[in-house]
Amino acid sequence: MEFSTMFWWFSCFLIIFLFNSLIQSFKSKRNGLPLPPGTMGWPYIGETFQLYSQDPNVFFANKIKRFGSIFKSHILGCPCVMISSPEAAKFVLNKAQLFKPTFPASKERMLGKQAIFFHQGEYHANLRRLVLRTFMPEAIRNMVPNIESIAQDCLKSWDGQLITTFLEMKTFTFNVALLSIFGKDEILYREDLKRCYYILERGYNSMPINIPGTLFHKAMKARKELSQILAQILAKRRTMKTEDNDLLGSFMGKKAGLTDKQIADNIIGVIFAARDTTASVLTWIVKYLGENPSVLQAVTEEQESILKSKEENGEEKGLTWEDTKKMPITSRVIQETLRVASILSFTFREAVQDVEYEGYLIPKGWKVLPLFRNIHHSPENFKEPEKFDPSRFEVAPKPNTFMPFGNGTHACPGNELAKLEMLVLLHHLTTKYRWSMVGAQNGIQYGPFALPQNGLPIILNPKK
Ligand code: HEM
Repeated sequence: MEFSTMFWWFSCFLIIFLFNSLIQSFKSKRNGLPLPPGTMGWPYIGETFQLYSQDPNVFFANKIKRFGSIFKSHILGCPCVMISSPEAAKFVLNKAQLFKPTFPASKERMLGKQAIFFHQGEYHANLRRLVLRTFMPEAIRNMVPNIESIAQDCLKSWDGQLITTFLEMKTFTFNVALLSIFGKDEILYREDLKRCYYILERGYNSMPINIPGTLFHKAMKARKELSQILAQILAKRRTMKTEDNDLLGSFMGKKAGLTDKQIADNIIGVIFAARDTTASVLTWIVKYLGENPSVLQAVTEEQESILKSKEENGEEKGLTWEDTKKMPITSRVIQETLRVASILSFTFREAVQDVEYEGYLIPKGWKVLPLFRNIHHSPENFKEPEKFDPSRFEVAPKPNTFMPFGNGTHACPGNELAKLEMLVLLHHLTTKYRWSMVGAQNGIQYGPFALPQNGLPIILNPKK
């Protein structure tokens, strides 16, 4: 490159950089408040490259070390404030009038603009009431036998095979999600829904270019087909005139006041929220149990004692809701896995107005990221945070230091179902099977949830 061209490029960058700094310093003087400390990187590119060229947790941890628990940065074309103190996370997630959820437009189009995640106010509150009603403990307790039969079918199909744990767990959590949405009718639509949903999923993280041949285009087509299948299901339910207790029944009720489009967007949204999250956590549990024989033994003994006491009392073989309440050790393994793996490292909000927090300005339009993983991995909140130690949950964690299911207005309404399906699967896995991991097990991949490298290949065999 000639010297004059280089000089020209250098001058352009310098001007943009100075202009950007000027804007930032102007913004920081708004309300007389300073912006949080931190660096914004290059104009427009910001620090996206630094974030994505290394382990994101190292990026966040270095920033926290340098600037403290609240700092600014610039990623994916957006200025943002990142927060890692429990109190600040609670503040942001509970002040719905100050911080709204925010997603890239392409994701909204793919899942459906009317889905619960994207909304605030009355429409969101109505949807939340309907979803919570279906997933609260009293509503899901009757699902135990059906969840159990899905778990047993899955485990049988993995028997004696080399499997990719995450892929197989996705089948389990997908089938449980369909059960909770459509009741037992789900079996009729399972294969069609699965086929379309898998195409949709492959396009979810692709470049949003909607021309024939691209993953995004295929995903949008699959999304259309999903809506058509859901329209058929709705039409069939209407002719049957039954009042069902599942999520679809709840959405279709007269009082719900939802249109068919709103119902379809939210059904697809709930499948999206329920499946990969729970499957990722189950994959981590299989890994941690495999690496910690004494914990695995304690879980197995707890689960075997449930079987034994059922036998001694002449009770029927299948698990009941009450049995799932007798699993404190297994429950702590789930809690500790949720903490260590922190599959949702952070979430996004956007400031709807200028907000003052702890003497700093969070300007209107800036993204705000509560960093769940850093809260869960701070030695101030959890002693020896990198150690997998379920016994730490024998004592309740300090307030707001443990939020695997979020907090506040958009906190996870499916957390009870997630815990229930994990307990049921772990009961059968630990009492009837043993497994060994295949290949090196050190890496983590993000897609978008944190996951053991290659989805954790294992060989599963029945116990003698
Ligand atoms: C272990 C598994 C799961 C984890 C770790 C998890 C985590 C979360 C988190 C952190 C949020 C809040 C996100 C935010 O504030 O931005 C959330 C929201 C949500 N989750 Fe879950 N989730 C899990 C399983 C499920 C299941 C099984 C369902 C449905 C049956 C579900 C349905 C939802 C829905 C509908 C929302 C949106 C709520 C709203 O916007 O008001 N999740 N989840």
